[in-house]
Amino acid sequence: MAHFKLGFIGAGFIARFQAQALTMVRGADLAGVCAPRGAEELSALSRELGIGECTVYPDIASLCHAVDAVLIFAPNFARVEIMQAIANAVAAGAPLKGIVCEKPLGRTVAEAKQLLELAASTGLPTAYFENQLHMKGMNAQKRQLAPQEKAMGPLTLARSAEEHAGPHEGWFWDPTRQGGGVLSDMGCHSIAIGWYVLTPSGKPVDFLEPVAVTADMALLKWGQPAYRKRLLDTMGVDYAKTPAEDFATGMVTFRNPETGQIVKAQFTNSWMFDKQGLRLYMDGLGPGYAFELNTLQTPLQVFIGDEAAEAAADVESALEKSTASRGLLVVEPNEADLYGYVDELEDAVRCFTEGRDGKLSFAYGYQVTRLCQAAYLSAERGRVVDLTNPAANAELDGYVSLIAQGRGGEVLHVPG
Ligand SMILES: NC(=O)c1ccc[n+]([C@@H]2O[C@H](COP(=O)([O-])OP(=O)(O)OC[C@H]3O[C@@H](n4cnc5c(N)ncnc54)[C@H](O)[C@@H]3O)[C@@H](O)[C@H]2O)c1
Repeated sequence: MAHFKLGFIGAGFIARFQAQALTMVRGADLAGVCAPRGAEELSALSRELGIGECTVYPDIASLCHAVDAVLIFAPNFARVEIMQAIANAVAAGAPLKGIVCEKPLGRTVAEAKQLLELAASTGLPTAYFENQLHMKGMNAQKRQLAPQEKAMGPLTLARSAEEHAGPHEGWFWDPTRQGGGVLSDMGCHSIAIGWYVLTPSGKPVDFLEPVAVTADMALLKWGQPAYRKRLLDTMGVDYAKTPAEDFATGMVTFRNPETGQIVKAQFTNSWMFDKQGLRLYMDGLGPGYAFELNTLQTPLQVFIGDEAAEAAADVESALEKSTASRGLLVVEPNEADLYGYVDELEDAVRCFTEGRDGKLSFAYGYQVTRLCQAAYLSAERGRVVDLTNPAANAELDGYVSLIAQGRGGEVLHVPG
């Protein structure tokens, strides 16, 4: 059977990571790419990895006509124009079988709705890429603890965190382009995985009904004068003028619609995790059983002494967002698999081949955007957002956080 042809829109950090993941997926090729920056380099990487010829296309329309599925791996601020271009190409006859979009689906609820509606206008299956729900460790704990859940009842508390020392590109730091700070960037992961952890076995990913959200956020590190200067010098973003949160935490309360049971998912995210590198942490507590997953606990460590440290070529080859090149270091030898990228690609290829949505559709991504924006609303107003209240939901529909508007100084303390 002919390989399923993937076309990447965007050729930066996540596109390169997904290219690595594709080396572990059977039956799919990287057939094309379209991006203002990095397309030729991604094409060369694709040939080097043996995952496809990866033709560089000048525009989204021609890419859509040449591949089976397009994957939106471009910055958050470009979502709507890209999705519009895909919808136009499909209307003009592009023979696509599916559309993928990286998290977050939108920077606001209204934007995520636009994505959802544009995708619906194509009639094509969709896959929202939230890698943490595809992590092998996560799904192994679900399988392993299914008998306990059946005998004792489901998990009642989930805690999840994604933290590192800060993103790699200026647009992530700029709340007006990214949609906020760390909550918009990584809170969407942790909120989604908390929801999933608590979802009883065999139930759909949106089975539990979100009933309330509370959150708190702060600018703890990158607002300090010395770090603000570093940010301005390296990323071109001025947190004296347009600050964003580098720490966020909160709680989402869910209700089981069959039993009425209330369960809670706590999330924590930061761009001030000055430790080894990226850490994904999740745990779940149920009656008499529990699990814990921490991606910094690895069987492989290396030691690099001061004398040898100058020889370190690329510390990120050991661990994403690695912050050190000497001492006792964590090495994750297969991060693309560890973080779930392999499984999410496999899922999209299989589902699109069968003519259906991925495990996570755009409709699910839209729900996650609502929860994430409810967290901004809660932190901004200092109150619980009651999602069972129609007025609160109506407010969310048109909500743009002060931080995303570039008015973060009104809600975050920025030291003088
Ligand atoms: N799931 C994850 O773990 C994860 C990790 C990183 C990034 N992401 C998501 O992936 C997306 C991309 O992030 P990144 O880190 O790769 O960003 P990046 O800045 O490293 O790369 C962005 C790429 O998109 C291209 N691009 C910019 N505007 C475009 C447009 N209008 N049309 C087509 N391409 C365009 C750029 O030229 C570049 O090639 C973001 O939405 C981010 O939230 C997800």
